[in-house]
Amino acid sequence: MDTNKENQTARQETAGAFPALPPEMTAPLLAWYRACGRTLPWRRTRDPYPIWVSEIMLQQTRVAAVLGYYARFLAAFPTVEALAAAPEEQLMALWQGLGYYSRARNLQRAARIVAERGRFPSTYEDLLALPGVGDYTAGAIASAAFGLPCPAVDGNVLRVAARLTDFHGDILSPAVKTAVRQALSRVLPEEQEDLRIFNQAMMDLGATVCPPNGPPQCDGCPLTPLCLGRERGTAEALPVRGKKKPRRAEERTVLVLLRQGKTALRKRPEEGLLAGLWEFPNLPGALEERAVAQALSDWGLTVLDWRSRAGAKHLFTHVEWRMTGYVLTVAGPGPEDFFWADGDALARHAVPSAFARYRALAAEALAKEAEP
Ligand code: ADE
Repeated sequence: MDTNKENQTARQETAGAFPALPPEMTAPLLAWYRACGRTLPWRRTRDPYPIWVSEIMLQQTRVAAVLGYYARFLAAFPTVEALAAAPEEQLMALWQGLGYYSRARNLQRAARIVAERGRFPSTYEDLLALPGVGDYTAGAIASAAFGLPCPAVDGNVLRVAARLTDFHGDILSPAVKTAVRQALSRVLPEEQEDLRIFNQAMMDLGATVCPPNGPPQCDGCPLTPLCLGRERGTAEALPVRGKKKPRRAEERTVLVLLRQGKTALRKRPEEGLLAGLWEFPNLPGALEERAVAQALSDWGLTVLDWRSRAGAKHLFTHVEWRMTGYVLTVAGPGPEDFFWADGDALARHAVPSAFARYRALAAEALAKEAEP
């Protein structure tokens, strides 16, 4: 074992939450990124606005899923002022399908703050103060847009760091994340141009060479000579994750109500899950026909025809919805907060993907009714 690795092992045995990273990793990592890093649209610019939009979209979302949304979003809102002034419906329609909709609302809240101030925040702390910007996103923007010495630690980076140091502690622990950030701070490059790409290089290494699923591609990795996980044969089994809390299961009954070529939508409350988005009317519990008929009658609606029943499941971060659904023809006025959408209006409204099955059933039924 060479001296460096001996030192690292010794530190690992005595250090607190996470061992030191080898300072020799920085140069080969940057050289590898310059030769092999992914060409991504937000990397062609130093303008903090598009970089910020990309980082918000990339929270919990894969690069491939983001690319189209990113292009359409910036075409619609090319400046922070345009985003600040955007109509809510247009904003939500552009986000539809990307999930985690509070991100879009926070983007606009932050855009209004930035537009009012007249300048984009340019320090880590000021970026962190924007709605929707956490420590990872603040670090990613501070480095890529401003060349500041700020690490950005996400799951990819934690995995690379754990493998590199053969670290067997719980990678989901907040103390470990803080310690990894500190360890990375000590191996950051000095030059501003290198700082702009250091985090991007760590992300790419984690996404391509040292991926979460499947074996690490150690032959193509610039850090192989320094990697204790590789040397000890533990890399593929790392990182260690403590147990996450299981998702809470919630039963709901979703109603696709059809009336004279239209279907009922309503807006969700402004707070909480899927805040402010359009939804199909729904009720807590897995309800049978009798209970549904009662609820409809309370809403001033009469059932003319039970057309079909359809179940669906949707996973959110902390909750799982188990849905029982009914497609029904109804008559009557319905409550005031119902919006009766025809096929075109349904296509234009941002109904989150949790309701995808019911949206498809409604669209199909409305299309059939519109046939001559
Ligand atoms: N995931 C989060 N930020 C990213 C970035 N800038 N490039 C690629 N993947 C990312």
